[in-house]
Amino acid sequence: MFFRAFLALCLLSSSVLAAAPGGVVAVSHPAAAAAGARMLAAGGNAVDAAAAVQFALNVVEPQSSGIGGGGFMMIYLAKTGETVIVDSRERAPAAARADQFAPDGLPMPFALASTSGLAVGVPGTLRGVDTALKRWGTQPLAATLAPAIELAGRGFRVNRFLAEDIANDDGRTALQPETAAVFRPGGVPLAEGGWLVQPDLAKTLKLIAAKGPNAFYRGPLARAIVKAQQRARSELGEAGRGRMTTADLARYEVAIRTPLMGRYRGWTLATMPPPSSGGLTMLETLGLLERFPLGDAAQGYGFGSAKTLHAMIEAMRLAFADRAVWIGDDDAAPVPRTGLLHPDYVAARSALIQSDGRMDTPQAGDPTPWEPAARPAPATRARAESPHTTHFAVVDRWGNVVTYTSTIEYTWGSGIMVPGYGFLLNNELTDFNFAPTADAAAGNPGANDVAPGKRPRSSMAPTMLFRDGKPVYAYGSPGGATIINSVLNVTLNLVDHGMTLQQAIDAPRLSVTHAAGRVSCEGGQAFMQPGFGLAAQEALRRLGHAGLGEAGTDGCGQTIGSVQAVSLDPATGGQDGAADRRREGTVVRLRR
Ligand code: GLY
Repeated sequence: MFFRAFLALCLLSSSVLAAAPGGVVAVSHPAAAAAGARMLAAGGNAVDAAAAVQFALNVVEPQSSGIGGGGFMMIYLAKTGETVIVDSRERAPAAARADQFAPDGLPMPFALASTSGLAVGVPGTLRGVDTALKRWGTQPLAATLAPAIELAGRGFRVNRFLAEDIANDDGRTALQPETAAVFRPGGVPLAEGGWLVQPDLAKTLKLIAAKGPNAFYRGPLARAIVKAQQRARSELGEAGRGRMTTADLARYEVAIRTPLMGRYRGWTLATMPPPSSGGLTMLETLGLLERFPLGDAAQGYGFGSAKTLHAMIEAMRLAFADRAVWIGDDDAAPVPRTGLLHPDYVAARSALIQSDGRMDTPQAGDPTPWEPAARPAPATRARAESPHTTHFAVVDRWGNVVTYTSTIEYTWGSGIMVPGYGFLLNNELTDFNFAPTADAAAGNPGANDVAPGKRPRSSMAPTMLFRDGKPVYAYGSPGGATIINSVLNVTLNLVDHGMTLQQAIDAPRLSVTHAAGRVSCEGGQAFMQPGFGLAAQEALRRLGHAGLGEAGTDGCGQTIGSVQAVSLDPATGGQDGAADRRREGTVVRLRR
């Protein structure tokens, strides 16, 4: 009752909020946003709220994130001014091998490998949230699980996005009986407006609330996870069975990382270092673009102009060529972070961008001369990635900020639900190279080849923008490799195009995720303003860019990412948030 009354109080104008902010939660689902707001209302901080949001997402966005997956939680600590990252990325089991997805030299079909236990990485989300709570939270784990337990036990209304993900799942929710029983009861896919109750998941979350995370990483639940991931698609036989053991689960540890820092036109960015490629690739792209006056309409640039979009496309292609070769888990093999962002390297790469046409497919560059230990240049390689995952952001009344992206990899992960426990297992190991690429003679480091204990390369990029040492914006996105470009688009909108946070999120996005790749661009939704005009699209076609459809047609009709964000005004102490209508984005604003 108190909570409902409290939430009613939260629907206030931002001018009132600026007077006495009590925190803001921005999430892709209203029930998960309410879970975070409940923590803040009870006196919890941003980390407590983030924990509650994450567990609630397991219930209301089970297709995208949960305790069967992993993620990156970036935390700004107002008291010390430090920014830290809890890396709970899934890890390859000890028995993983570089050629496991290509045992006969040929990569397995993605659809089969990604729905077999072989793709399941050792899950990290629960250990990550628990670690963050113990180090920086104020509430016990059980308190942060309470909203999710209620949601799972009582049920919630299926929204359009969940219903669409069930309807368009390529059969993934029908492959395993436990998954089908939850999302296709009686063989009928749950539809929008239906009611979803998840008693097994409620029981599991209660168990964790009572016994702590070791109830997941050891004992009967750990054994059930191991057994579940031994399932393989029949076409793959033994080769498709998962290799995770109870020892892998028992030894899972998170990493606490410092963010990758970068500069762009006077702003400071804190973003995600390896094992994600997200931060490095985005910062490199920004560096490649800095010589172009993207915001200056008088020079023919400005939002949505052909000149701006062409520069963005070419910069993305260059940075993704580097990503394909150089970036992986640098706890396993060093990534040339210094070289990839070195001004001289970036300037040489940026000089490849010509104003009068699309460049031939660029190869990865050689950033190694700028690294402490030089390495030879390799060949490139790239692979398609999946569109799902979840991002959310929180700020509390003390000015602590969390920006957190989490995932079970593909929509519905592996599709394997742990029998009796009601949560899905990830297929994160498909983020590794499917066939080994390491080749000393060719100078390829195999940065993202599978190896025991290694983390697969991610694209997730929780990010904060700082001015004068203070956080002003915190954001991120789902969307596989497009995450990098969604975060980039929003950054350009804020910095170059002077948009408000909501405008920056609403504006249509453009993305290319491979050096040889085609352009994807958004349009067709009323809120995506200003749009990408037909004249600009025509000019891009003339420059040689593919992916925009036939001449004279509108080739921008996709949906890319889902950015949830919070903002702080260091001058006034004001706080606000902005949510993405590409999902059921919700902002809850609290006041004291
Ligand atoms: N599996 C999505 C990512 O980590 O980027």
